[in-house]
Amino acid sequence: MKILFPIILYLVVSLLLLAPCALCQDEVSGCVNCHSELDDGDIEAPTELFKNDIHNQAALGCVGCHGGDPTSDDEDLAMSEATGFIGVPDPTDIPKICSKCHSDPVFMKSFDPGLAIDQYAKYMTSIHGIRNSAGDTKVAQCASCHRAHDIRKANDPKSSTYAFNLPGTCAACHANNVYMAGYDIATDQHTDYERSVHGIALLEKRDIGAPACNDCHGNHGAVPPEVGSIDKVCGLCHANNMTNFDQSTHNEYFDALEMPACETCHSNHYVDSPSTDILDGETSVCAQCHNSDESPEGLEAADGMRKSIDSLNTSLTVVKEKLDESDRKGLFVTNALFTWQEARQKEFAAKTAVHTFDLGKVTGVTAEGLELASQADVAADDLLAGYVFRRAGLAVSVFFLGLLALLLWLKARQIDARQQSL
Ligand code: HEC
Ligand code: HEC
Ligand code: HEC
Ligand code: HEC
Ligand code: HEC
Ligand code: HEC
Ligand code: HEC
Ligand code: HEC
Ligand code: HEC
Repeated sequence: MKILFPIILYLVVSLLLLAPCALCQDEVSGCVNCHSELDDGDIEAPTELFKNDIHNQAALGCVGCHGGDPTSDDEDLAMSEATGFIGVPDPTDIPKICSKCHSDPVFMKSFDPGLAIDQYAKYMTSIHGIRNSAGDTKVAQCASCHRAHDIRKANDPKSSTYAFNLPGTCAACHANNVYMAGYDIATDQHTDYERSVHGIALLEKRDIGAPACNDCHGNHGAVPPEVGSIDKVCGLCHANNMTNFDQSTHNEYFDALEMPACETCHSNHYVDSPSTDILDGETSVCAQCHNSDESPEGLEAADGMRKSIDSLNTSLTVVKEKLDESDRKGLFVTNALFTWQEARQKEFAAKTAVHTFDLGKVTGVTAEGLELASQADVAADDLLAGYVFRRAGLAVSVFFLGLLALLLWLKARQIDARQQSL
């Protein structure tokens, strides 16, 4: 008797665990069974794709989006309007179909309490949403970005919205000039992005910290929720540049001229890694507004910034060569290298200080950098001088040791000769 109890418990628990799966099998069987047997590629494909779909894993069948009766094996009954079957949804209906569940807090909570339920509300603030609800069938709706039957969790690397895949998802429309022909909009965003410092960092170096399209444009809304205007989106990651810019007089000048904060000098999609060349005279980024006749102070400040950053850069290069030489000679360079690195940080900081538009602030930072560079220089010289001194010392001691050996040898011979003569 005693042995029966655990066996019964085991059987009951196993049955309970199997029950939900048995249910989900039942629920999709009608649609999936028939569709997976059909030869027509378009009609069969969804069943294959749906295997990896998050909704399949959550035991939500085809009916969740298409309606119909999943328990019937009869084509007409299963797909009858009477059972709510809607066929292939029209693009302008899709946002409502998805948000029937995704905007329902009670329903969604029973699956994943952490999942946001604001996608539809946000989508309706974007150009995509505004145009979709006005009847435009070509703008992106939920299924254009998430696919229809291979929808995966946001953190699944195979998801069409995962950082590495997302630029390609947007480009399917935005880089297609035939598809976008009816709109007065460029189709170069993806090409520009791909060769930008951000695109290379994300797509080639696989640096997940670099922005994909949605980091600047928002997942569903017009802009990411943290920023008021896309003009300021760069500040999400480049906070110091943004603070300097915001606190400068130029913040107002740019607003008055209706020129965007960062894009004016760095572009939006083709953001390049800048050098001091962009502070060079009439070809500088400052020359977009300043010229030597009416507002020379801008170009003069740019010139001063360029010279002071360049001079710090030159001393850093010179000192680095000395440190490398010391390193090759096996000298202990760690401390001097640390000071050099601090000086290097000042060079980056000076470039960030450019965004104050205040020459004094930039030269203030480069002066600190030059001071540190000169300390590292002195330390490098000391190391090398010490090395020369030790080499010379070594030569002298080798000479004296040799001399001593010679004297000892002579003395030994003398003693030998004396012993033989005895
Ligand atoms: C007995 C077979 C069978 C069953 C069961 C079945 N289908 Fe179909 N389904 C078909 C065939 C055949 C077509 C293509 C012919 C057509 O358009 O009617 C089709 C077409 C479709 C289409 C495309 C309609 C269009 O207008 O192009 C959708 C969507 C669809 N089925 C969904 C479902 C769903 C959801 C279920 C379950 C509730 C289901 N089907 C059950 C055979 C079936
Ligand atoms: C999460 C919502 C959703 C679920 C679940 C879903 N579909 Fe679809 N289905 C769509 C959408 C949206 C379309 C419209 C076409 C598109 O955007 O690709 C579609 C289109 C179709 C089509 C037309 C051919 C095509 O690919 O465009 C068929 C057939 C179809 N679905 C069958 C199914 C079957 C069978 C299942 C279950 C295995 C299923 N769908 C589950 C959303 C869904
Ligand atoms: C323009 C492309 C695009 C459209 C249109 C779109 N999404 Fe998204 N969606 C995304 C991106 C990008 C993410 C975030 C992926 C990540 O976090 O890596 C996302 C995330 C999600 C998530 C995960 C939770 C979250 O909010 O981060 C859900 C659920 C979702 N979308 C549903 C929807 C629904 C429902 C619609 C239609 C009302 C929709 N999406 C329209 C691109 C889109
Ligand atoms: C029948 C209800 C229902 C419909 C309709 C529906 N979903 Fe979902 N969806 C869910 C549920 C529930 C989950 C959460 C599953 C889980 O995490 O266990 C989910 C998960 C998701 C996720 C993954 C979220 C994450 O965890 O990152 C995305 C993306 C998504 N759905 C997009 C869509 C899109 C796009 C549509 C319309 C084409 C759609 N859903 C239609 C119920 C639905
Ligand atoms: C299904 C095709 C499609 C997909 C996918 C798509 N878009 Fe769009 N998008 C459009 C169309 C069409 C417009 C309308 C063009 C216009 O505004 O004139 C548009 C408009 C926009 C606009 C507004 C442009 C303006 O007028 O200022 C932005 C920004 C945008 N999309 C970004 C994105 C991003 C980012 C993604 C990917 C996360 C994406 N789109 C995915 C088709 C698409
Ligand atoms: C580093 C931030 C950033 C990234 C990444 C980014 N964009 Fe943009 N995008 C912007 C800014 C800023 C604008 C200008 C908006 C304005 O002035 O209204 C813009 C404008 C646009 C527009 C409007 C038309 C145009 O060209 O001015 C579209 C469409 C667009 N982006 C699509 C994309 C797509 C697709 C991707 C990914 C391949 C992408 N963007 C990546 C910041 C970004
Ligand atoms: C999601 C975070 C993020 C956003 C948003 C972002 N960036 Fe970046 N940015 C980065 C990262 C990460 C790098 C470093 C890439 C690398 O590895 O070279 C970078 C590099 C840069 C560089 C090159 C720096 C250098 O020293 O070479 C510039 C310039 C730049 N970004 C400007 C911008 C501008 C302008 C915008 C807005 C239009 C912007 N960024 C938006 C993360 C971001
Ligand atoms: C008036 C032109 C101008 C504007 C506007 C501007 N920058 Fe710069 N930016 C520069 C110059 C000049 C440099 C320094 C180039 C060098 O010496 O390498 C630079 C360098 C950078 C760098 C690389 C150095 C560093 O600080 O890490 C980043 C990142 C950057 N800018 C981001 C931004 C952001 C974000 C904004 C908007 C708040 C912005 N920039 C606005 C001209 C500008
Ligand atoms: C979007 C246009 C614009 C750009 C780009 C621009 N400036 Fe200016 N700048 C102005 C305006 C407007 C004034 C004030 C009117 C005047 O004196 O001409 C000004 C004034 C100045 C002044 C005088 C002191 C002050 O703050 O009023 C300096 C210095 C200056 N700019 C430096 C720069 C430097 C350096 C750059 C490039 C890194 C630059 N500016 C880029 C518009 C611009």
